[in-house]
Amino acid sequence: MIGPFEWIGRQALFAFDPETAHGMSLSALKSGLPICGRVTSSERLRTTVCGLDFPNPLGMAAGYDKNAEVPDALLGLGFGFAEVGTVTPLPQQGNPRPRIFRLTADNAIINRLGFNNEGHERALARLRARSGRKGIVGVNIGANKDSTDRVGDYEAGVRRFAGVASYLTVNISSPNTPDLRNLQARESLSELLARVMAARDTAGAQSVPVFLKIAPDLHEADLDDVAAEVTQKNVEGVIVSNTTIARPPLKSRAFASEAGGLSGAPLFERSTIVLAKMRRLLGPDRAIIGVGGVSSADTALEKIRAGADLVQLYSCMVYAGPSLPSRIVRGMTDFAEREGLSNIRSIRDSRLDHWAARPLD
Ligand code: FNR
Repeated sequence: MIGPFEWIGRQALFAFDPETAHGMSLSALKSGLPICGRVTSSERLRTTVCGLDFPNPLGMAAGYDKNAEVPDALLGLGFGFAEVGTVTPLPQQGNPRPRIFRLTADNAIINRLGFNNEGHERALARLRARSGRKGIVGVNIGANKDSTDRVGDYEAGVRRFAGVASYLTVNISSPNTPDLRNLQARESLSELLARVMAARDTAGAQSVPVFLKIAPDLHEADLDDVAAEVTQKNVEGVIVSNTTIARPPLKSRAFASEAGGLSGAPLFERSTIVLAKMRRLLGPDRAIIGVGGVSSADTALEKIRAGADLVQLYSCMVYAGPSLPSRIVRGMTDFAEREGLSNIRSIRDSRLDHWAARPLD
């Protein structure tokens, strides 16, 4: 349940188009005003993944803070980590507006932003300005739409951000940059990952883990290829998943046929099935971040049961407000206490068989 102040805040923000409302929420976070109450994390949620010590396993997904303006404010909402970006080498406008649509009845969003962002320089300057601060901040890197060497754009992202990022995410799964997702095909992926990992190592940043973010629309054979390449190139982890181009049955008829990526509640099932299948393919030791339709402690816990080490969310916070992360963290803590779990990671994979057995159609 959201409180009365958040409800009023939400009604006010929803009077504006989604992109204006997003800008207003960023300004509110930048203002430094206390947006929700104190957040306490429990030892039962603390987890170490790829050598990084997370106070809790819930993170802010990429796309909210594209230009690294508010990572510390996001951590202040209760998130255990924040991922900024996607950033591309050069600033770019993205697609024409309108390009974000609220599907309120479905607790979902469709976006076709197309990597609108201020470019590497601006994001890097902001991240340098916060260096030395505590808190895990990942940087999600991408390629410019007009780039003649997209793999080179990822290498540039690695070189630029390796010194300021807790981890790097190679995002090749946005549906809104033409042909970007082709980089998930085996041969292209092999070259991309080889060059990215070499760039990371040449930068002397072996301790900065690399995650590959994949689409939920991949089929079984594609997942086999991705897992094989991730393993062969020794990429530290995978993020499952980005938005989907599929359109499961939706209540919000008005926007359901808008082009772009669908996220939020209707993505939960498919992204969780893909997550579990990826866990099966990668084995127990490689890191997986589960994303897609997380709206509550229960859905966050289910991602962990399906095989996730860490969980992220974005869309459902648009509807539930900025207290959502702290409510989820509290709910996960209550669950761990109730069940007598010394650490929440002990439930990982407990429903792996259930989710991995589900078919991908
Ligand atoms: C996104 N997402 C996203 N992902 C990414 O890797 N880079 C990006 O720039 C963006 N941009 C973006 C904008 C908007 C408006 C939305 C709603 C989403 C995808 C996001 O990180 C996440 O993977 C999906 O939205 C699924 O999670 P949720 O939203 O269902 O919790």
